[in-house]
Amino acid sequence: MKHLLLSASTLLLLAGCGQKAINLVPQPVQITAQQGQFVITHNTPLVLQNMDASSATALYIQEFLSSRLGLHLPSGSDDAAQALRFILNPTPDAALPAEGYTLQANANGISIVANTDAGLVYGLQTLYQLAPAQISTQHVDAIAIPAVDITDYPRFEWRGSHLDVSRHFFDVEYVKKHLDVMALYKLNKFHWHLTDDHGWRLQIDKYPKLTEIGAWRVDRSKETWLSNIPPKEGEPATYGGFYTKEQVKEVLAYAAARNIEVIPEIEIPGHCSEVLASYPEFACDTFPYIVEVGPYWPPKAIMCGGNDKVITFFNDIMDEVIELFPSQYIHIGGDEAEKGNWKACAKCQARIKKLKLNNEEELQSWMIREVEKHVAAKNKRIIGWDEILEGGVTPNAVLMYWRGWVKDSVLIDAIRKQGNQVIMTPNTYCYIDYYQTLPQQATQVAIGGYLPIEKVYAFEPIPTGLSADEAHFIKGGQANLWAEFLFESTNVEYMLLPRLLALAEAVWSPKEARNWARFEQQLPNQKKRLSALGYNYCNEVGLIKDAPKE
Ligand code: ACM
Ligand code: ZN
Repeated sequence: MKHLLLSASTLLLLAGCGQKAINLVPQPVQITAQQGQFVITHNTPLVLQNMDASSATALYIQEFLSSRLGLHLPSGSDDAAQALRFILNPTPDAALPAEGYTLQANANGISIVANTDAGLVYGLQTLYQLAPAQISTQHVDAIAIPAVDITDYPRFEWRGSHLDVSRHFFDVEYVKKHLDVMALYKLNKFHWHLTDDHGWRLQIDKYPKLTEIGAWRVDRSKETWLSNIPPKEGEPATYGGFYTKEQVKEVLAYAAARNIEVIPEIEIPGHCSEVLASYPEFACDTFPYIVEVGPYWPPKAIMCGGNDKVITFFNDIMDEVIELFPSQYIHIGGDEAEKGNWKACAKCQARIKKLKLNNEEELQSWMIREVEKHVAAKNKRIIGWDEILEGGVTPNAVLMYWRGWVKDSVLIDAIRKQGNQVIMTPNTYCYIDYYQTLPQQATQVAIGGYLPIEKVYAFEPIPTGLSADEAHFIKGGQANLWAEFLFESTNVEYMLLPRLLALAEAVWSPKEARNWARFEQQLPNQKKRLSALGYNYCNEVGLIKDAPKE
């Protein structure tokens, strides 16, 4: 690790720059700046009070202090003076909501107190943001933390970041880097989009062809995504990859230490060219499906709704996914399933007739309910994109709303009639694969659209029209990052950052604490921190007033 011995004057410089104005994103619930500071040195005792010293959180705190702040602190006893303390309440403080924490820094030391490990992890992120922004590249012998009293907790329980690893594959090392930046901004749900037409990314023992065939496509990474040049006769499929179960376990442990729940998404019944390329017998027809290399529309691939083997396949996949992922949730996709093949398929039509269904939408709902029954028997819940409402869903299904052009009254109806819970990810505020500057000014090609950071910042997860009681059915919100145009992880970071910070405030901070002018002023300092941590980001700020006329 880089460890520089710096002079007292350098210390003063680091303590002085930018630290007068406290810069925290997301904005905490309550913050009171006090006079003075506490200087953490290599001799400051680290007290982990009421904590198991070998717990993932205790180890994470120590690893974080050393790698991010260059501090290898001696451990101190509970009564140590002038200490940095992390205190787990022995009996929960009822005034502090789940994931909340308090942080008090003054001349006598720093105390971070929480009811849960999650709260301590968030207190740690806040402590890090109180340190100078450049600290990660310039470790010093002493770090001045301004005196402050903070009480903080999230507005929403679901604070998500979605990553598509099918259209382009990102390795475990990048996934961990993604989890780190999520933790820094207090996001807690990683929605891992593991399967789609362009590649299957998860080891499944019972269906090995999913990764032998379905994880690989011919390499068009030297072309633009839109060129979509089909495979030539005999051309080898060399672009792709997948995560082994061991790698997934490594990611899960890494995420858990950062209070991040990993929600796997397995797309059914559409977005499945890669499945049909691997197992053509699951299609309605004999079309030669391939692992797609570029855009195509409309999406023709759909697994046969009349074939019992398809239902067995779904259940088998769910069994392996449930065994691997501890999350209560499994995302089953359900979006954009074009049903042309089902209309022409004798097996699908026979199933519709036999079950007395009214149409193909109801056939999709029947399939999803079959899977839901299977996972519910193992105490798991499904999440699906909002299309799953079209043929009816059970009250237990969680809806992920993405189609900003479909009136949110359909959600309000589902909440009122059935009590479905909802996660808000409307494309109009949350699709961070859209351009963040005007397309003609962009330095990186995007899928289209225009979603400046100022608009992400204006995201309000509670739809108008819901009463305060009904608002409780909204679990929170999430930024979605589709990866068609993201060839490298640096491209991912460019689209993610800094818009993820705006989303983080929308789902963490109290509504009344949000203020675009204040947030915009904070961005340069936050970018400095992101640079020090080695992240790429977009350096322009797109504004709502510049939006092109529709
Ligand atoms: C989606 O963007 N098709 C969920
Ligand atoms: Zn069929």
